[in-house]
Amino acid sequence: MEFSIKSGNPEKQRSACVVVGVFEPRKLTLAAELIDNAARSHLSDIVRRGDMEGKAGSTLLLHNVPGTLCDRVLLVGLGKEKEFGDREYCDAIRSAVRTLDETGSFDGTVFLTETSVRKRSAAWRVRQAVLVARQTVYRFDQFKSKKDKVRRPLRKLTFVVDRRNELAAAEEALNQGQAIAEGVSLAKNLANLPGNVCTPSHLAETAQHLATEHKIECQILEADEMAALGMHSLLSVAKGSHQSPKLIVLQYKGGKSDEKPVVLVGKGVTFDSGGISLKPAPEMDEMKYDMCGAASVLGAIKATALMKLPINLTVIVPSTENMPGGAATRPGDIVTSMSGQSIEILNTDAEGRLILCDALTYAARFDPETVIDVATLTGACVIALGHVATGLFANSDTLARELEHAGDEAHDRAWQMPLWDDYQELLKSPFADMANIGGRSAGSITAACFLARFTKKYVWAHLDIAGTAWKSGSDKGATGRPVPLLMHYLMKRAGKLT
Ligand code: BES
Ligand code: MN
Ligand code: ZN
Repeated sequence: MEFSIKSGNPEKQRSACVVVGVFEPRKLTLAAELIDNAARSHLSDIVRRGDMEGKAGSTLLLHNVPGTLCDRVLLVGLGKEKEFGDREYCDAIRSAVRTLDETGSFDGTVFLTETSVRKRSAAWRVRQAVLVARQTVYRFDQFKSKKDKVRRPLRKLTFVVDRRNELAAAEEALNQGQAIAEGVSLAKNLANLPGNVCTPSHLAETAQHLATEHKIECQILEADEMAALGMHSLLSVAKGSHQSPKLIVLQYKGGKSDEKPVVLVGKGVTFDSGGISLKPAPEMDEMKYDMCGAASVLGAIKATALMKLPINLTVIVPSTENMPGGAATRPGDIVTSMSGQSIEILNTDAEGRLILCDALTYAARFDPETVIDVATLTGACVIALGHVATGLFANSDTLARELEHAGDEAHDRAWQMPLWDDYQELLKSPFADMANIGGRSAGSITAACFLARFTKKYVWAHLDIAGTAWKSGSDKGATGRPVPLLMHYLMKRAGKLT
């Protein structure tokens, strides 16, 4: 889809459809009022008759509105003006775009971006509108032999900002929104692929492809190189699989050469059967999404390169399958990680931390400014926070605040959980330096505590995206989260957030 920005009057737009908002109860926004004036009260008549109350999520499509130059006017209900915040704004854009896409308009001129949203700038409204629009028209149908074709799909959206002096900032926000949306799409596309297609090798090829398309360096470490580095924890997870594990390293160097990089580490388990501690059958298919951390950090580096952010960013993806088999790791096996610490593997289904710990040890060699890992790490996180917030853990409260703020700004929120040493006791093992599980209580915290034992040398945060990376049920699919959060964090660091 194509996007552009303009400022101007709604009644003067030559467009297939002009989109304006109505607050509840029956209160026209400024743009709707301008159309109403040109149309000699056509809109206020309709609203008075009760066809559009302004309820959130409602839409009303009007044809041949007098006094206008467009084919259609779409009224979008915005809910109560006092309650109009981030979520309501995104919902309004979503219903507008969905209606446009379904009703035959090739293009739309959207005035909703003029409506003020509490605490948010015009640039924010534009960036968010691009993201939501792209999300709304996203389809993953590459495995369908017959695609459901929209007859006249929406091709072009123009977002209107109310003052000419906002145009420059809005243009930049539009480009940022496009770049983030590209990152989100990459993350979703990778994650929606089935496990037989999206293997560790596939992730490695995708990374190599990113490196050739953009100014990014790529290095892929094979199993023998991992063994030479002492990554026996990571390798223990791969033992049951016929797919060879890969350690993917990407380096984007947009900052000064002496500037320390931000390092993003993404869990890339391309299918998690649980291994010998086999998972139950129901919903096991969803474990193809166990590489969503990897997908999101690949999406983030792509968006960073598209935006040409003046920062140094390194992405590390430990990738493997977790399968049962004659060579697979058994419960009770003890391995030595790259850090030298030994681990008793009591449950082979707690494999994410086993691959991440070696990747986190490896991260130290990049002399990082900050390290953030992203992982679909624990079912317990879904129990704690549901599908709304990502679990956030950090060994620095400053970093935790920054990520929380980035999530808030991106409407891709994270909520901090404790990482107190009191929980470390749960990981005690009689035979090794630690066990890989901590028992039933505080499951996402003990997982984070396990990782914390490998991140003492740098400032670090862990994002548990088990509940936020994909949706189950009838509209099953990857969400692309937390690419928006990561990008807002990086943009802020680069001084590119207005
Ligand atoms: N990939 C899973 C976590 C997961 C489960 C994410 C369900 C989303 C939905 C992870 O590898 C795992 O299996 N974790 C175990 C840990 C347990 C054995 C300590 C879990 O959460 O059950
Ligand atoms: Mn598992
Ligand atoms: Zn897993």
